[in-house]
Amino acid sequence: MTPASRMRAGGKLKTGVLISGRGSNLKALIEACKAPDFPAEIVLVISNRADAGGLAYARNAAIPAAIFPHTDYASREAFDAAIDARLKNAGVECICLAGFMRILSDRFVRAWQGRMMNIHPSLLPDFKGTEVHERVLAAGVKESGCTVHYVVPELDSGPTILQARVPVLAGDTPATLAARVLTEEHRTYPAALRMIAEGQVRLENGRAVFGARRP
Ligand code: GRF
Repeated sequence: MTPASRMRAGGKLKTGVLISGRGSNLKALIEACKAPDFPAEIVLVISNRADAGGLAYARNAAIPAAIFPHTDYASREAFDAAIDARLKNAGVECICLAGFMRILSDRFVRAWQGRMMNIHPSLLPDFKGTEVHERVLAAGVKESGCTVHYVVPELDSGPTILQARVPVLAGDTPATLAARVLTEEHRTYPAALRMIAEGQVRLENGRAVFGARRP
C-alpha cells in the first residue's frame, strides 16, 4: 500500500520501535502518535534488554512490548531473524531505531531498507559512532544537532531524512550539550516519522527523495 492510498483508507503506518535503554525518543514517538491526525501508530516495541527503562513507556501506553535478550541467541543472524519474525507478525511496516545498541546484520538491514530509520545525536556525517558529545566539544565546533536517517549497512551512514541544529555554548559539558540535542531529537523523530508515513520522503536508488510521489 502506498502512503497516499493508506491515508485515503484512513490507515496509519504500523511502526515498530527498537530500544535498548532510557527510551525518551520512544516516549516522544508515543506522544506524537496520540494525536488523531498523526499518520503512524506504534504497534510493537522491542528491547534487547529486559531492564530498558523505556519499556515502561510502552506498558503505560498499552503498546505490546517484547524482550529479546541478545545473549539468548547463538549469532547476530539468529537474533535478527527472531526480531524480524516478530516485527512481521505484528504487521510492522516501518522500524524506528531509538537508542537500539545492537548492530543489525546486513541481511536484516537490506530486508528493511527504506523502511527503517535511526536517530543519531550529531549532524551526520560528522561524529558518527559513540561518545558523540565528548568528541563534539573536543573538536571545538560551534554547532551540533541530531539527524534522522535511513538505515544502511554502514553504521550512521544512511541518507538523511531530517536534521535539527543547536548551538554549542561556552561552558557546555557533554551532559548539557546532550540535553540540548535531546530536546531537538524529541521533535525531530516524530516529524521524520510523519514525513515517511505521508510519503513526503522515500529511499530511491540509495538516496532520500523528497516530495510527494507523482500519481
Ligand atoms: C539518543 O541520543 C539517540 O540519538 C541515540 O541514543 C540516544 C537514545 O536515547 N541513538 P533514548 O533512549 O531515546 O532516551
